[in-house]
Amino acid sequence: MTDQQPGAYRRVASLKTADEFAGHLAGLGVEINFDRKLEAGPRSPLGEAYQLGEQRIGNRFSILPMEGWDGTEDGMPSELTVRRWRHFGASGAKLIWGGEAVAVRHDGRANPNQLVSSDSTAGALGRLRETLVAGHLEQGETADDLLVGLQLTHSGRFARPNRKDRLEPRILYHHPLLDRKFGVPPDYPCLTDGEIDGLIEDFVRAAVRARGAGFAFVDLKHCHGYLGHEFLSATTRPGRYGGDFAGRTRFLRELVAGIRRDAPGLLLGVRLSAFDFLPFKMGADRRGEPESFAGRYTYAFGADPEGALRVDLRETREFLDLLGALGIRLACVSAGSPYYNPHIQRPALFPPSDGYEPPEDPLVGVARLLGVTAELKADYPQLAIVGTGYSYLQEWLPHVAQHYVRTGKVDFVGLGRLVLSYPELPRDVLRATPLQTKKLCRTFSDCTTGPRNGLVSGCFPLDPFYRSHPQAAQLKAVKKEIGR
Ligand SMILES: Cc1cc2nc3c(=O)[nH]c(=O)nc-3n(C[C@H](O)[C@H](O)[C@H](O)COP(=O)(O)O)c2cc1C
Repeated sequence: MTDQQPGAYRRVASLKTADEFAGHLAGLGVEINFDRKLEAGPRSPLGEAYQLGEQRIGNRFSILPMEGWDGTEDGMPSELTVRRWRHFGASGAKLIWGGEAVAVRHDGRANPNQLVSSDSTAGALGRLRETLVAGHLEQGETADDLLVGLQLTHSGRFARPNRKDRLEPRILYHHPLLDRKFGVPPDYPCLTDGEIDGLIEDFVRAAVRARGAGFAFVDLKHCHGYLGHEFLSATTRPGRYGGDFAGRTRFLRELVAGIRRDAPGLLLGVRLSAFDFLPFKMGADRRGEPESFAGRYTYAFGADPEGALRVDLRETREFLDLLGALGIRLACVSAGSPYYNPHIQRPALFPPSDGYEPPEDPLVGVARLLGVTAELKADYPQLAIVGTGYSYLQEWLPHVAQHYVRTGKVDFVGLGRLVLSYPELPRDVLRATPLQTKKLCRTFSDCTTGPRNGLVSGCFPLDPFYRSHPQAAQLKAVKKEIGR
């Protein structure tokens, strides 16, 4: 952490030259490497194909899953969803990591507008994929080297299936800090082992539907505090699905066995919070500070229990070993949770309405994500690893991305928020077209503030479509009320 005051962090847009950027990073004491010269066309490391078994993936850009809180109440895509997926395809990125989180059943929805996998939505999800592919082809691309997956999830502790303002948690264990933070009473029931067995069957059915709808892989989501991720920290849970590492990963192993049985040929991937920290709260100066906890903290997967603000990758490596043993080659590295420590998950200069001022320069968060990913990549050359945390790099994104791919520190550069404002960035970089800097995401967090206040997500500040969307005025009013 730094001693800087909130709001005092230097804006990336002001770092005009490579020397200034390098000097700023050195001043912060963080390691982010970058190439000064960008290569274009066939010489660009970002344009090099990746061979995943028999599948060729045409370049090194990946679109990260980005939901819009804009599906219909019965779990179908809306026009807004379709527009977003068309942009994902038009981006030119060749690995579409999941599109967005799709709940495997109603009680697992993170909001009443989250997409749901069911027999009645399967056709619409298939058409959504076709729209994405059409967006890709419209740009003169081929779809032969495009890999499109679907992210499957249950939102667990953060489920809000029926009302945007009402959590209806499905928990695996009582958490000493998160229960209090999110109002889970001490006698609230935990999912039983039998209920988990049933949920595994729901995931398997969703995977079968995804294969039928033409998706090449499903992502068995294990990140961001949702149910898959909660299994990994269920150290205090008795029974088959908790306790030791084998118990905490039984869910994944059973998912894989079920999907291999019922949807043979479907590729599998896992998006993982490779590390987590203590939950954060707003301090007196509005800056984030960690919740206090006495004793060993065993609830943050990938953190040191003796000091859960330090990354400890021992169990993360065990998890990646397990992926290898299960024959899974696709992994996407993320961290933490948007609900209790967003600054480690999506570094931003401006917090969303339920957030806090950044407790560290967001570049520190970017460096942490990039560094952990590089460490893991070094030990797992056989995994195709997608990195996260690049949007905050803004003007320097292509330079950093090229360096990390060229030096083998990551296989694919994952793009999240940036894609909402500037979907064609991958094409621009690969064709050596100058960056359209007006479209670069400046991390205002409106894409999160919207949904936190019952609105759809989108880039309200920079995407003209959302700037003139009827909900833009509502968002403005919300921000005024909270003084942001
Ligand atoms: C509006 C919004 C929606 C998101 N939806 C998902 C999602 O459905 N699944 C997921 O795994 N991550 C989701 N994320 C996290 C992003 O995939 C990504 O990890 C995060 O934005 C950090 O990457 P970035 O710095 O490129 O934005 C979402 C993030 C935002 C801001």
